Order: sequence, then C-alpha cells, then structure tokens
Amino acid sequence: MPANLLLLGGTSEAYALAERLAGYPEWHLINSLAGRTTDPRLPAGETRIGGFGGVEGLVRYLKERSIRALIDATHPFAAQMGWNAAAACRLTGVPWLRLERPPWQPGPGDLWVRVATWSEAVAALRQLGSRRVLLAIGRQELAPFAALDDLWFLIRLVSPPDPKPEFAQAEWVYARGPFALDDERALLDAQRIDTILCKNSGGEATAAKLVAARERGIRVIMLERPARPQALAQATTVEAALNWIRALQTG
Ligand SMILES: NC(=O)c1ccc[n+]([C@@H]2O[C@H](COP(=O)([O-])OP(=O)(O)OC[C@H]3O[C@@H](n4cnc5c(N)ncnc54)[C@H](OP(=O)(O)O)[C@@H]3O)[C@@H](O)[C@H]2O)c1
Repeated sequence: MPANLLLLGGTSEAYALAERLAGYPEWHLINSLAGRTTDPRLPAGETRIGGFGGVEGLVRYLKERSIRALIDATHPFAAQMGWNAAAACRLTGVPWLRLERPPWQPGPGDLWVRVATWSEAVAALRQLGSRRVLLAIGRQELAPFAALDDLWFLIRLVSPPDPKPEFAQAEWVYARGPFALDDERALLDAQRIDTILCKNSGGEATAAKLVAARERGIRVIMLERPARPQALAQATTVEAALNWIRALQTG
C-alpha cells in the first residue's frame, strides 16, 4: 500500500516535483492548493483545494489521511502556510521538508535597495526620486502604490487584478515569464524605466530584468522574503527533495 505524501504547492517547483513523483509507486501524492486561482492547472496526482483551517485543521488532516511526510513547497512570499505546516508537523511527528528556490543576490554593478515592507518600498521610491517605475510585484499588493499619483508605473502582471486599483498614471501589461533578456532590455529602454520594484522571488524565469537593470544602472527596490520557520530538512531543488523522499523510504 503506497504511503501518503502531502505536497503544499502553488509553485513551479511543486508542479515539477509532482511530475517526478508520478514515477514512485510507493508514494501516493496529495497536492494541496490554496484555491486563489480560478481554474488552476492541476498537478500530477490527487489534488485538494482550499485552506485546512489553521494549524488545528492541518493536524486533523494529517491524522485523517495518515500522512507519512509533508513537503512545504509554497511560494517564498506565502507568509503563513509554512508556519502552520511546521507547527502541525511538530505536533504530529510527521517529517517535513521545506523546498524553496534560493533568493537572488546582488552582484557587482547592481544598484539594489533592499526593503522588508511595502511602506519601506514607498519611502525608497521617494528617496530615490523615481519617476518611471516597473512594478513587478504581483496583483495582491498594488494598493500602496496607487496613491503615488505623481509617479508613472508600468505594471506587469500575469493576469488583470480584480478589483483593479485606480492609478493616476500607469500602463498595464499582462504577461507570464520566462522573460528573455533582449525583451527586458527593450522594455526598459522603450519605457524609459528608472526604477524596478519587485519581490525577491528568485528563479530563472523573471531574473533577466535584473541583468538588464544592472547593465543600464537602473535602481532596483527589492522586497526581501518574509520570515519562515527553521526547517530541519531543506532543499533548493526538486532533485534534492527527491533525495530526501528516497531516504525516508529506506531510512
Ligand atoms: N504570496 C505569493 O507571492 C505567491 C506567489 C505565487 C504562488 N503563491 C501560492 O499561492 C498560495 C497562497 O499564497 P498566500 O500568499 O495567500 O499564502 P499564505 O499567506 O502563506 O497562506 C494563507 C492561508 O492560505 C491557505 N493556504 C496557503 N497555501 C496553501 C496550500 N498550498 N494549500 C492549502 N491551503 C493553503 C492556508 O489557510 P488555512 O490556514 O485555512 O489552512 C493559509 O493559512 C500558496 O500555495 C502559494 O504557494 C503565492
């Protein structure tokens, strides 16, 4: 009888891991999605959608489904779920792994201002005297910037936000990465961008804008990741996560 593995997902790493786990008949994979997206792409394996009901709800779920191991592969900016998973696993003794892509790091020539909150980001825009800003922060956090009506924004999102906040001066672009370096160079030049505001998501798909910014001496205001619980087991790649799973079977 295969053992149940719970994978907290919503990231490209979780989709990739689910694909790979399809080749492991000793595991029954249960993917968990928060349910933020209507009509989400379904990963390989069983999928459940929606919150568990806090730590208590997750503890109940781990017991009801006899979960043998949990992998927290939620997005680096998903601030709550990792804490709930850590607490529930400690309470039940379920082994858990944090799978997280490494953050981007500034290199020589980068002009980064690192901030911890959106209000620090607003202050940094003021301090830098920014005029034309590429806003690449997702759709949930736009409100603090809509109030800055003397700045012009190029707002890049995967899909239109609902509701759509009113910006005095903005152009909206809907596009999903990966973004090519030449396209990012052309965009920054054509729109005369002087500042990029983004989250430190890490990964290859959206990193080209940082290279193009470095080449042009464009400032980057980088929102750093929220705090996470210390995980005993951590992986930065799908392959490392698979190694952890293999060790569980044999260990
Ligand atoms: N935040 C981002 O920038 C971002 C970007 C890309 C993808 N995502 C994905 O979108 C999802 C939601 O993000 P968020 O920022 O709202 O998360 P969050 O703040 O960490 O979570 C808020 C609540 O949503 C529920 N939840 C979150 N992830 C879940 C999952 N994988 N399965 C079941 N319930 C989940 C939990 O509800 P209960 O307490 O009721 O269990 C959690 O307490 C995550 O799965 C994340 O991987 C987030």
